[in-house]
Amino acid sequence: MPLTVYVSGRFVSLDEASVPLTDRGLLFGDGIYEVYRVYRGRPFRLKEHFERLRRSATEIRLALPETDWIALHAELAERNGLRDADWTVYVQVTRGAPASRGHAFPAVETPPTLFVIARPFTEPAATLHDDGASVITRADIRWGRCNVKSVNLLPNVLASQEAAEAGAWEAVFVRDSVVTEGAHTNVFAVLDGRVTTHPEGPRILSGVTRAAVLELAHAEGLPVDETPMRLEALTGATEVFLTGTTAEVMPVVHVDGRPVGTGRPGPVAKRLRAAFRRLV
Ligand code: PDD
Repeated sequence: MPLTVYVSGRFVSLDEASVPLTDRGLLFGDGIYEVYRVYRGRPFRLKEHFERLRRSATEIRLALPETDWIALHAELAERNGLRDADWTVYVQVTRGAPASRGHAFPAVETPPTLFVIARPFTEPAATLHDDGASVITRADIRWGRCNVKSVNLLPNVLASQEAAEAGAWEAVFVRDSVVTEGAHTNVFAVLDGRVTTHPEGPRILSGVTRAAVLELAHAEGLPVDETPMRLEALTGATEVFLTGTTAEVMPVVHVDGRPVGTGRPGPVAKRLRAAFRRLV
C-alpha cells in the first residue's frame, strides 16, 4: 500500500503527491525541515523538534502555517497504520510557490508549502552500532548559519558522497582546524576523561539527540565540556561518537582510516548508547 503523506492541507498517496515546479524549496532551497523518530508509536521529543522548526522559521523570516502538529502526526499514523510501529517523520516547509521566480520574498499572501512524510524506520545494520563506524573529515564549507535546519544541503550531500566512496559512514566537518559536526550528526569525543562536543551556536545544528545525550551524560555523572575541539584532539581522543536522529549514539572507531583509541567502541559511548535506548 503506498504511503499517505500530507501536502499543504491534504492527505494524498505518495505516488500522487506533488509540489509546483515554482516552489521556492526547489528553486532556491528556500525552506527548512525536521526529521524525528517514533519508537513503538511514541514520538521522541516531538516538542523539541517543532520548537527547532519554529526557530529555523524565525531565523529565515518564514511564517509557519498554523498547524496542530500533534493532531497531524496522529492522523498520519492512523492513515498509514503506523500506530504502534517504529517510524521516521520528515517535515518540510518552504516559502511557497509564487507564479514567478524572483530571489526576494514573494507576496505575503503566498502560502508556504508544508509537507510531511512518515515512513516505517529500518534500523541500520545491527553490527554498525556494535562494531562502530568510520568517518572521514572534510573542510566545513557551509554557510555561517548552520543552526538553521535549512534544506540547502549541498555541502552535506557532497561530503556524504565522499564518505560513501571512502567506505565511511559519516563525514565530519572541520572549520579553521576545529571539528564542528557531521554531515547529518553531532560529534562527541572523550578527551582526558571528559565528554566533549562543540558548543551550540551558528556553526552547528543544535541536535535534539545531542541535547538528550548531554542530559544523559550529566545523569550518569560523566564530566561534560561544550567547547570547540581541534582536529588533533579528535584524532587523539580515547573515544569518538556521533549523535543524531538516525544515528542515535554511534561509536566511531576510525577517523580518516586511523583507529580511535583501541579501535573498538569505548565504554563511554556504550554506556550513553544504552542510556539512550532506555530513554526512547
Ligand atoms: N540530520 N547536524 C546536522 C547537520 C544534521 O543534519 C543533524 C540531523 C544533526 C543531528 O540532529 P538531531 O539529533 O536533532 O537529529 C546534526 C537529520 C537526521 C537529517 O538530515 O536527516
